[in-house]
Amino acid sequence: MIHLAVNIDHVATVRNARGGIQPDPIEAARQSIQAGAIGIVCHLREDRRHIRDADVYALRSELNTKLDLEMAAQEDIIRIAEDVKPELVTIVPEKRKELTTDGGLNIAADSSRYAELVQRMHALGIEVSFFIEPDSKQIETAQKIGADIIELHTGTYADAIGSNAEEALQLLILGGKIAQEHGLKVTAGHGLDYHNITPIKSIPGLVEVSIGHALISRALFIGIPQAVKDMISLLE
Ligand code: PXP
Repeated sequence: MIHLAVNIDHVATVRNARGGIQPDPIEAARQSIQAGAIGIVCHLREDRRHIRDADVYALRSELNTKLDLEMAAQEDIIRIAEDVKPELVTIVPEKRKELTTDGGLNIAADSSRYAELVQRMHALGIEVSFFIEPDSKQIETAQKIGADIIELHTGTYADAIGSNAEEALQLLILGGKIAQEHGLKVTAGHGLDYHNITPIKSIPGLVEVSIGHALISRALFIGIPQAVKDMISLLE
């Protein structure tokens, strides 16, 4: 069984468009959990363009759920993670100008810095996942520095068409296999939707997917509970 974690960032995007309190990302999280999601993901970006600090604290205090805080390895955000203590942090690359997370993180390029981050999180009982490409060097580094989970970047697969999508899928499958051999838990995310999700289930060891944009978009028309249930039934 592959679990669904729902990313609620874009509920906050719509809220922030008018500067008020509607729609409420916490209510979106509540409805997602009630409909069967295993956890909630939110990305606290440097520019706070969607999720804000107060949302992260509210998710922690108001919901009894697995919280995955997506974040760049930046000291001010690391301190918030240490304070909030989510069950999991997912470390992503972040560029100020990008529309959304642009590819996986190169942990091999700065492994001692990421190893130190893992130690800081583990000291507080927080699991650590790295959002990386399905690349053996990155996966081996994740294991060496003590990561608990790798989240495979599925954006290349999601953006590809035809034979390119098949090629991208085969790389994800190989990445899953290598991660399994290294004793890492495997999750996947980015660009996944109701049309491209089924082949993703063939990634070895895949335990969870993290989905935001496609799910929240569908929820506009059919509501969050049904959008969550539809995705869960595709994952079964
Ligand atoms: N996983 C990671 C690491 C991400 O950065 C994102 C986007 O915030 C997602 C999953 C969800 O991607 P999408 O919104 O395309 O479903």
